[in-house]
Amino acid sequence: MADFTSEFWSWFIIVLVVLSFIGIILLLRWMSVKEPSGDKPQTMGHVWDEDLEELNNPLPMWWLVMFYITIVFGIVYLALYPGLGNIKGLLDWTQESEYTEEIRVADEKYEPLFLKYSQTDLAQLSKDKEAMKTGERLFINYCNVCHGSDARGATGFPNLRDTDWLYGGEAETIKTTIMHGRQGMMPPWKDMLSNADATNVVDYVLSLSGRRFDQKAAESGKVKFEQLCIACHGADGTGNKAMGAPNLTDGTWLYGGSKSAIRISILNGRNGNMPAMADFLGETRVHLLAAYIYSLSNESE
Ligand code: HEC
Ligand code: HEC
Repeated sequence: MADFTSEFWSWFIIVLVVLSFIGIILLLRWMSVKEPSGDKPQTMGHVWDEDLEELNNPLPMWWLVMFYITIVFGIVYLALYPGLGNIKGLLDWTQESEYTEEIRVADEKYEPLFLKYSQTDLAQLSKDKEAMKTGERLFINYCNVCHGSDARGATGFPNLRDTDWLYGGEAETIKTTIMHGRQGMMPPWKDMLSNADATNVVDYVLSLSGRRFDQKAAESGKVKFEQLCIACHGADGTGNKAMGAPNLTDGTWLYGGSKSAIRISILNGRNGNMPAMADFLGETRVHLLAAYIYSLSNESE
């Protein structure tokens, strides 16, 4: 139910609605009264096509009755449900209570199932075909906006089907990720790196994954990399799962592997945010989702 900014608007609506009801009822009564002028209906004085006259007959009974029924319906409806200004209605119905009730009914129906699943070990659960079908439905409901319905991700949103993990692909780690969320923290380096430095570092990063690079530039880039980057990405550039620093030596890029995309990652930093799901979905659903994600990259086992 909308909350009005002031009582005035609530009363404004109540008065308008009540006046409309009274107006409609008066109009209907007026329209249904027969003129006392005997059998011959009064003419309104309008004539078309020579002999087609407009007469002042009362409205047909069936039509009037229908109209009265809609009025009664309207009054009963407004008495039971919110609609008259801020008045709540006798049933105390709200969108929120309806929604909560639907959720409660659904929870009652599915929670025992989720509870059963949640007592099964993740790796074992990931082999249960029925459970994985339910997991997939949960994934499509809650995760596909970011990771895509096929879980292959997009720029900035990791692919969950491959075996390349920012934070680790062990079943329990996946569950931790989903429960508590993850914050990627790649700081911006534009204040620390000159334009030339940046070009050199990009070339060094390219060299790590065996791409074409400029030897001299990469050599200077390596110096900067060792100063600024290895704390997170490791001396060999293979990353650090504890902080979600990506492996820079594989061909997989979260934010794109073109020279310009890598340059932007380095100069502006990146802050991917995986929202925590523990409060929103509850542990039993997260458990099932974790098993589902685990199954995506462990299907052949
Ligand atoms: C609002 C967008 C968003 C939603 C919704 C979302 N995620 Fe994520 N997720 C991300 C981002 C962004 C990352 C990468 C975080 C980073 O860059 O550090 C991520 C990372 C992950 C990872 C870690 C991947 C790795 O390589 O370690 C898993 C697992 C994951 N998400 C599962 C899920 C599941 C399951 C759901 C649904 C319950 C979900 N996500 C919903 C944005 C989202
Ligand atoms: C404080 C830790 C930290 C430091 C220091 C750091 N990075 Fe990162 N870097 C990260 C994290 C974490 C991510 C992933 C960000 C995300 O998930 O949103 C990342 C992402 C990147 C990416 C994007 C990778 C992809 O797959 O798209 C590149 C490239 C990169 N870093 C290069 C560097 C370079 C070069 C330096 C040194 C100048 C550096 N990083 C220093 C933590 C760090």
